[in-house]
Amino acid sequence: MAERRDVVIIGAGAAGMMCAIEAGRRGRRVLVLDHAKAPGEKIRISGGGRCNFTNIHAGPKNFLSANPHFAKSALARYTPRDFLDLVERHRIAWHEKTLGQLFCDNSAKDIIAMLLAEMRAAGVELRLSTAIGDIAHDGTSFRISTEQGAIEAASLVVATGGKSIPKMGATGFAYRVAEQFGLPVVETRAGLVPLMLDPATLAAHEGLPGVAVDVAACHGKTEFREAALFTHRGLSGPAILQISSYWREGEEIGLHIRPDLEFAAIIAAARRQNGRQAVQTVLAEHIPKKLAQLVATDLGIDGPLAELSGKRIDALVQRLRDWRFRPPASEGYRTAEVTLGGVDTAALDSRSMAAKAVPGLYFIGEAVDVTGWLGGYNFQWAWASGHAAGQEA
Ligand code: FDA
Repeated sequence: MAERRDVVIIGAGAAGMMCAIEAGRRGRRVLVLDHAKAPGEKIRISGGGRCNFTNIHAGPKNFLSANPHFAKSALARYTPRDFLDLVERHRIAWHEKTLGQLFCDNSAKDIIAMLLAEMRAAGVELRLSTAIGDIAHDGTSFRISTEQGAIEAASLVVATGGKSIPKMGATGFAYRVAEQFGLPVVETRAGLVPLMLDPATLAAHEGLPGVAVDVAACHGKTEFREAALFTHRGLSGPAILQISSYWREGEEIGLHIRPDLEFAAIIAAARRQNGRQAVQTVLAEHIPKKLAQLVATDLGIDGPLAELSGKRIDALVQRLRDWRFRPPASEGYRTAEVTLGGVDTAALDSRSMAAKAVPGLYFIGEAVDVTGWLGGYNFQWAWASGHAAGQEA
């Protein structure tokens, strides 16, 4: 005899736990299954251990999806303010770091404890270390096989996230379930991920790893103004992670170094003031010294400012305005914060996350083809999509 529940949720991550709370509050008998030993492992490691749990500016424009309108309904019905109210009800101290990003003062574990407390209050049962086997559907209910026996439920919510960080148990399980039920899956790829550089470029950048600078990272018309970081493998830092989600293998990105400054005017003024100084010295007042040296050396610029031709200075200014890189690859799922693509939103109802063709089947969170920018947006999608499904499942 199989156990029976109203709702089975696979995945005790951000989206699955939020969905469980909402469904439990409606009086549904909810069971959450996860193969991991602990719930919310990605919450625990997020935001450097302090969890950037939402972004007060989160709106549909901060998300990538084949259908940019899909996320609107869920995001509008569960807002950053709604999540913040929950955080404040649990007396979790928080602060805004930058660009609307909200973090815990103390620890990401506070968010996990809050979600577990809400789940308990809503009568939700959580079963960890549970490997999921086959899923069958007879038209009215789902039968989920596990090592400990089968469970039957009228609603099945798939909240198993994407493929990023396989070391933490990310599996691509949701895509297999979608395929089993005939739902299309938008091609997946690593997002919010460091970009690699080829060995020749890395060799030419010797000395740069560890150097960070404010940039505008550009890909086509998309631009992010944040810090970039040179690493031993290539490029990282928030601006690079942001642009990586728009970039595809083999394409170029451009870096505008210190977009807040007019280097042409700075160099002209320095030249008038003291033509004997080297351009590196002038640049090093505004950007890290190692970077200033590399840019000058790379363009074969040496000697006093007064002796530099206008053409050379133009080349230097142009390099700082649009430094082009063609990364051969990203670091991939091993270090990616998110997975782009996923269950095709065309197959889902935007109000409830239900599969249009399979009554009772829901996909939420990162498993769906909705991916946020860096900065708390991905958790906001997890909360909002989990909340949406939890109101119907
Ligand atoms: P999530 O991946 O959280 O949960 C999926 C759950 O399903 C896991 O518990 C997993 O064990 C389980 N599971 C998977 N396969 C299974 C299977 N086959 N059987 C049973 N269970 C299975 N976002 C943000 O907004 N702010 C931030 O600060 C950060 N920081 C951050 C840091 C790092 C290092 C990473 C990798 C990611 C972030 N993110 C982030 C992104 C954020 O963590 C991510 O978008 C959400 O956790 C997605 O929530 P989900 O619930 O959809 O999946």
